[in-house]
Amino acid sequence: MNFQKIFGKPPETEASAPGRVNLLGEHTDYNDGFVLPTAIPQRTTVQLGSSTDGHHHFYSEDLDERVSVLESNHTPSGFASYIFGCIQLLQKQGYTIPSLNLHVKSTVPIGSGLSSSAALEVATLRAVRQLLNLPINDVEIAQLAQQAEIQYAGVQCGIMDQMASSLADTEHMLFLDTRSLERRVIPFPSGAEIVVIDSGVPRTLAGSGYNQRRGECEEAARLLGVKALRDITDSSATEVLPEPLRRRARHVITENNRVLEVLQIVETFHETSLQRFGELMNASHASLRDDYEVSVPALDTLVGMLQKTAGVFGARLTGAGFGGACVALVAAGEGRGIASNVLEQYNQTGNTGRILVPATDF
Ligand code: GLA
Repeated sequence: MNFQKIFGKPPETEASAPGRVNLLGEHTDYNDGFVLPTAIPQRTTVQLGSSTDGHHHFYSEDLDERVSVLESNHTPSGFASYIFGCIQLLQKQGYTIPSLNLHVKSTVPIGSGLSSSAALEVATLRAVRQLLNLPINDVEIAQLAQQAEIQYAGVQCGIMDQMASSLADTEHMLFLDTRSLERRVIPFPSGAEIVVIDSGVPRTLAGSGYNQRRGECEEAARLLGVKALRDITDSSATEVLPEPLRRRARHVITENNRVLEVLQIVETFHETSLQRFGELMNASHASLRDDYEVSVPALDTLVGMLQKTAGVFGARLTGAGFGGACVALVAAGEGRGIASNVLEQYNQTGNTGRILVPATDF
């Protein structure tokens, strides 16, 4: 149902934000490291108006769920927790936020590792900024969105997803140093495009596994005497660590080096650098599977099929892992054909995958 039907009057403003897919640099952001995401075409749109009964009312069109916030000290659950978190954080910054009617509609798939929650947070903050003319820039939006996720949705995430949703677009890759927030917007190479396929495996262990990996990295950094694993560039330094910390740290260090290598070759994109970019994506998947242990058999199957397909430079799982989607870098113009062929093969293995990019269903 649209805004008018739910709230009885038209919205006063509207804003949207995209989901993201990470091309390289996985599980590096909470280690102060480097990431390389890009936006996907799927977006979340938030429409806003003021509510007259003194309460916030949030409606998700996709879930057909309405949540009213009757007490401001009680965090709602589900999609409303992200919105509520954003509003609370703005208030803590000193802004006066009126009671709101808020309508959400999204094409970003939920639970595929493509940052539907970051898209919701960033779209919410953009809409409130617009409605109230708040002096907040896009980096501050990303920082508030990350805090909403940590403090109100309980996920100890890094800042990649929110920075990507706030600053990236589909024509560029966003290189980000997550420590300094220094970034470079790099045009997508003309000889390539991306394919994103959802494995159909829900990310059931993502929450607990994610926080556990994060803890292991902090422990490894402490034992190595550095502020964060980002401060180490030579993976042989990990040899003194006990298992599994040694492999966890090795993933982070080698992954950071892979992102930096892509950044170096990025200026001179031609056929050979796309090959190398692809090799680094393949190496990233192997490292996530063997050292970081966040893959699952279905993702390995799907990635393996992509990697063997002609026209594919490289493929890997994307996002936190434990299920969700894979991303592949493929020759320009071949994405749709490659995605359909691989999906057909993959679905014959008893899984139910889904092509997310190139996007077809909207
Ligand atoms: C999730 C988190 C990000 C990042 C990735 C893994 O998407 O929200 O901050 O840590 O996992 O790279």
